[in-house]
Amino acid sequence: MHIDIITTPNDALKESGFGALNACNSVLGAIQRMGHSAKLNVCETKDHLDAVVKTKPELVILAVKYIPTTNGTEIWLSDYFSEHGINYTGSSREVLKFDSNKVLAKTHLTNKGIKTAEYFIAIPGQYTSESVLPVAFPLFLKPLDAANGNGIDDLSFVTSFSDYENKVMSLYDSFNQPILVEKYLDGREFTVAVIKTHNEKLIVSAVEVIPPTSSHGLRILGAQAKKDDSEKLIEIVDDEVKNRITALAIDAFNALGTRDFGRIDIKTDNHGGCYFMEANLVPGMTYGSSYFPKACELAHEFSYDKVIELLLAGGLGRATSTLPPNMFPDSDNKFVAAV
Ligand SMILES: Nc1ncnc2c1ncn2[C@@H]1O[C@H](COP(=O)(O)OP(=O)(O)O)[C@@H](O)[C@H]1O
Ligand SMILES: [Mg+2]
Repeated sequence: MHIDIITTPNDALKESGFGALNACNSVLGAIQRMGHSAKLNVCETKDHLDAVVKTKPELVILAVKYIPTTNGTEIWLSDYFSEHGINYTGSSREVLKFDSNKVLAKTHLTNKGIKTAEYFIAIPGQYTSESVLPVAFPLFLKPLDAANGNGIDDLSFVTSFSDYENKVMSLYDSFNQPILVEKYLDGREFTVAVIKTHNEKLIVSAVEVIPPTSSHGLRILGAQAKKDDSEKLIEIVDDEVKNRITALAIDAFNALGTRDFGRIDIKTDNHGGCYFMEANLVPGMTYGSSYFPKACELAHEFSYDKVIELLLAGGLGRATSTLPPNMFPDSDNKFVAAV
């Protein structure tokens, strides 16, 4: 099978997708070990994408959602490749919007009866006193569409109006967009890797994330914790908790219309209520550190290569010739290496 991975130099992107070049190279290695002919394309312009289309790949793996162009616009890869009739991995542009914009995902899921933290949107000066805030303290402030913990630190947790105003102002200065203000959820944190294989079977890997305790005694996954890689992922031992987290993640994955794969972040409050936090629909795939492959390993003992094989299953199923030279499907429609 002729497969192309598409990425872009993404150091400056707010949303990084699979991750830096080393993550894409790890994905590439796994695909090549499956026996496919695969190539990594670092695309910066439409011409680069056009060149990929000319080679008529049977599947393109989208490691980022879009590439920024010099005139300030973005080329969304799922739109671009579907317009050119090329089979791609992951969700459509319409669905990826739920990943980019947390409020869009929250309103969509709330309308479908899925719980998410109470919230409002604010710009500096919009609310002039504590009594007019739509949701009561404690609150948690974050950018509407950033990822990787950007803009999130101890000051995101606010319990007074002056702290609220200061964080709204600093986020507005840095991100130049309205701020997402949520009810602070004071419980545990979970992340769930969900893969939909070509026979529509869901493989779900739910794990607990334990962020380090900050100097203020908070456990949040801000940019610093993510950069330092200081959070721990652990198995969920309590079956009742695991079932509730898994059910919420599946409901959110389906309700968002996700295709192929996605990672759903969930938080609980101190009564154990579970709340959808965000969807990562082009999740980090850095070997050894990203949550998606780590969750699959903890929950199912899947190797990194196995995770990539499963990530591709939906896309390979849509391709005309579905099998790499040295693989065949077993009775469960899983790909197994030929002996
Ligand atoms: N409402 C909230 N209450 C408590 N902590 C939160 C809340 N929202 C986010 N957090 C903390 O901030 C982290 C990052 O938030 P998230 O929305 O997942 O943004 P990112 O896209 O940067 O990962 C979460 O992993 C969690 O630790
Ligand atoms: Mg997150």
